[in-house]
Amino acid sequence: MANHRFQGLKLWRKLTRRDWTIAAASLSILIFTISFISHSQRYSTNSTTPANNWIPFTPLTKAQHKSAFCLDGSLPGYHLQKGFGSGSDKWVLHIEGGGWCNSIESCSFRQTTKLGSSRFMEHEVQFSGILSSDSSQNPDFFDWNKVKIRYCDGGSFSGHSDSEFKNGTKLFFRGQVIWEAVIGELLSIGLSNAKKALLSGCSAGGLATLIHCDDFREILPKDANVKCLVDAGFFLNEKDVAGSPTIERFYQDVVNLQGVANSLKKDCTSRLEPYKCFFPQEFISNIKTPLFLVQPGYDFWQIQNILVPGSSGPLRSWVRCKLNINSCNSKQLEVLQDFRNSLLKTLGGFHQNPEGGMFINSCFIHCQTWMTETWHSPRSPKIDNKTIAEAVGDWYFNRNEAKHIDCPFPCNPTCYNMDFTQI
Ligand SMILES: *[C@@H]1O[C@H](CO)[C@@H](O)[C@H](O)[C@H]1NC(C)=O
Ligand SMILES: *[C@@H]1O[C@H](CO)[C@@H](O)[C@H](O)[C@H]1NC(C)=O
Repeated sequence: MANHRFQGLKLWRKLTRRDWTIAAASLSILIFTISFISHSQRYSTNSTTPANNWIPFTPLTKAQHKSAFCLDGSLPGYHLQKGFGSGSDKWVLHIEGGGWCNSIESCSFRQTTKLGSSRFMEHEVQFSGILSSDSSQNPDFFDWNKVKIRYCDGGSFSGHSDSEFKNGTKLFFRGQVIWEAVIGELLSIGLSNAKKALLSGCSAGGLATLIHCDDFREILPKDANVKCLVDAGFFLNEKDVAGSPTIERFYQDVVNLQGVANSLKKDCTSRLEPYKCFFPQEFISNIKTPLFLVQPGYDFWQIQNILVPGSSGPLRSWVRCKLNINSCNSKQLEVLQDFRNSLLKTLGGFHQNPEGGMFINSCFIHCQTWMTETWHSPRSPKIDNKTIAEAVGDWYFNRNEAKHIDCPFPCNPTCYNMDFTQI
């Protein structure tokens, strides 16, 4: 395996290991996700993005009367960089990820972090990857209006307030209202005249992209070219290695606690229990807007939280494998290959969609579109000699068919495989 190293990635690994240890202790899904997002933020600040690319946070002050609040009651918001030249009437939106909270306890904790409160968010962030304004790093979208939507509701922008204030705890579950308020404000400052638009998001933000893709399409002008890009947002409904439906229970809790059902596709909730419709596999065929999926075949978040959650008892033998795919023994690799096969099988119908695009690389990573190193650089992961940025551009502009599926691990030497054991 090629092991590209750069300073940022090393820092990421170092910090993440400590947090992984905390995660292993018990709070795995919540803490791990927070550490992933916060440290990858630092990681991106170490990238080669020009230093003048710091983009300020804009709170949604105008939406205050709509009660669009983060979990703790603070104002949500976004970062916007204006487009220029021929990109002035084109918009790329990127929804931040960061897992979900599924209980009063985990949402109360999240309230004290930037994933639940803008009081803890950075005043400015660097834009890279799909948000980069450097044409060598972002060949097709560099001059577009670029927006990073901050995630602070804990429910993939899908919660409804009628489920609030349980057991005397003050928590705002207003993901859906936040979504509407952000889009409303962007419409008022130019999005309503967009000629081209791309809604994207990573992880829980990728799931939000899937959930809101068609309503985004509907509010934009009929003659605009509107598409959606989902990065590591295709969470599989699979049992864990011990045979328990861990992620299904977790999603059930999120959907019930935050009242998510009303935001989910009606053609799904009419035939299944609402929480099942939080799984993309149950509603992807109901999405009418063209979609592109960037999904690693060995998504480390899914391996660490869906397939092998926790680390005690019979799962002890998995600890090293969960930290570094190169440490997996042959039996464990078989389990991982089965997991990838489930993904490919589940995506079989989507593969037939003539307007769809996909990039399913055999890497041990999670989000790949918002970091220049994995989006588009000389050493980025490739399939069929294309970077993710090239494949997404081919699909968006109808230049080429863009359905790329990698050969199984460990065949692709261009992967960034995360190694959480490296210090
Ligand atoms: C509220 O408290 C009751 C009794 O302690 C408990 O059974 C229930 O699960 C709690 N509800 C939530 C949403 O945490
Ligand atoms: C791969 O793509 C690069 C850049 O587009 C090109 O220069 C190179 O010739 C391609 N290599 C192969 C083997 O097709």
